Amino acid sequence: MQYLQITKSRRRAALLAGALAGLLLGSASCVGGRAARAYRVNAGGDADRGIAVINMKNCGSCHSIPGIHGARGIVGPPLTNFARRTFIAGEAPNQPDKLAQWLMSPQSIEPHTAMPNLGLTEQQARDVAAYLYTLE
Ligand code: HEC
Repeated sequence: MQYLQITKSRRRAALLAGALAGLLLGSASCVGGRAARAYRVNAGGDADRGIAVINMKNCGSCHSIPGIHGARGIVGPPLTNFARRTFIAGEAPNQPDKLAQWLMSPQSIEPHTAMPNLGLTEQQARDVAAYLYTLE
């Protein structure tokens, strides 16, 4: 009886250790509300052209964006780790088509959002999305 209890608690300890190791190694699919991606998302655009669009539209006046010179705005949320975000503006699932839609027309996703419509073409939006998905 006593032996049985010991093996049981050992097994529980082993299970717990395994779960902790899984978390630490990042093998859990969702840590802290962020989905970990094991592949690069194809947004149908070109990340380098996306950088040019981000500079031209001055997204950095409102957002902090890694890799973009002078992009330290605090009006909007920082776009750090954007590839690992679950939602866009807490509204739409973070998928390439939705992100392109958000960039072309934020109001079509969240009518009262403070982010302005910056008049991006679909190709520009996909280029910007391609860049944002490099931010892991
Ligand atoms: C005038 C300020 C302003 C400008 C300029 C601006 N944004 Fe935003 N942006 C915002 C605000 C405010 C939000 C938060 C929207 C919300 O949650 O309703 C936002 C949200 C976002 C989000 C969603 C962020 C999240 O955490 O889910 C992305 C992506 C984004 N902006 C990208 C861009 C890009 C790319 C540009 C340039 C093409 C840009 N923004 C230009 C103000 C701005």
